[in-house]
Amino acid sequence: MDNYNRLMEQLAGQQRKWLITGVAGFIGSNLLEHLLRLGQSVVGLDNFSTGKPANLQEVRESVSPEQWQSFRFIEGDICSLSTCREACRGIDYVLHEAALGSVPRSIEDPITSNETNVSGFLNMLVAARDAQVKRFVYAASSSTYGDHPGLPKAEDIIGKPLSPYAVTKYVNELYAEVFARTYGMELIGLRYFNVFGRRQDPDGAYAAVIPKWIKAMIKGEPVYINGTGETSRDFCYVENVIQMNLLASLTADGAVVNQVYNTAVNARTDLNELYNKLHVRLLPLYPALQGCKPVYRDFRRGDVMHSQADIGKAERLLGYSPSHMIDEGLDAALGWYIGNLT
Ligand SMILES: NC(=O)c1ccc[n+]([C@@H]2O[C@H](COP(=O)([O-])OP(=O)(O)OC[C@H]3O[C@@H](n4cnc5c(N)ncnc54)[C@H](O)[C@@H]3O)[C@@H](O)[C@H]2O)c1
Repeated sequence: MDNYNRLMEQLAGQQRKWLITGVAGFIGSNLLEHLLRLGQSVVGLDNFSTGKPANLQEVRESVSPEQWQSFRFIEGDICSLSTCREACRGIDYVLHEAALGSVPRSIEDPITSNETNVSGFLNMLVAARDAQVKRFVYAASSSTYGDHPGLPKAEDIIGKPLSPYAVTKYVNELYAEVFARTYGMELIGLRYFNVFGRRQDPDGAYAAVIPKWIKAMIKGEPVYINGTGETSRDFCYVENVIQMNLLASLTADGAVVNQVYNTAVNARTDLNELYNKLHVRLLPLYPALQGCKPVYRDFRRGDVMHSQADIGKAERLLGYSPSHMIDEGLDAALGWYIGNLT
């Protein structure tokens, strides 16, 4: 049995208390569903700025009434220290997902991104420190690699940030290092690459590419590619992110904490290939897509050209082994979008 399955078995026999911030969002609600199914006790914090009550409702419908009883929701803002303190009370493990995502959003409004992603993060660190949580695992970002051209990206070598969002996520890592050194906390940062899966929001100006394109194809609307379509990403299905969060939380080896880990699959798909993967899968269900082509427009400010993760460190130190490459992830995610958007 691999490391992850062994940890899951141990966890199922032992209820721990978890806090998930950003629990009504895409990744947070997937973490919630997984932990409740494992019989865990979960406190969730969210201010519904980008997350949705419907995501929580969907989790409620997918777990048993007893499992749902083990969830307590706090509607509140991580920008309030007293709210963070209330959320951290009695918690063993914090999974900190709350942040304002999106590079373009941070370019439009850097102040609000900074308030949530930096000041809110600092509030959570202080609250978690004072509540003496066992471990604090937080959503870092591949945007930290900035303008460094090397591929695949290894954790130690980063470039200069290309957006306010990238600055905020790098500052998280700096604060985490300082809190580990100064207060003896155990923290792990997970540098997520482009995550996708069920419940990722397809709407709005800042939607991620996969849900946005799936929705456009299902609804017969144009699909826009920013640039020539050669921009490439390491698309990571959300199940892999859940695995990384649980490994990072539960691994007993003290030598692996107070570090950051790439969270992806070490593969690269460019936007033209991504378009084709979605088109091929949706065409049998939506024949109107026959002959449709993407519309090319300008490259977006702040975006990096290529991204691919070296996942060797996570494999070696955490025992990570991705369960889904992009194709399996798309197959799994598409079912949800088809069921929910039509
Ligand atoms: N999705 C990705 O590809 C990706 C990549 C890199 C990093 N990340 C990081 O992962 C985390 C989760 O991202 P996601 O894709 O699930 O985004 P999401 O927008 O779906 O979820 C974020 C959640 O945080 C909540 N939130 C925002 N500000 C808050 C505040 N001030 N107080 C309380 N709650 C607040 C939102 O309402 C939302 O529910 C974020 O930290 C994001 O920066 C995501």
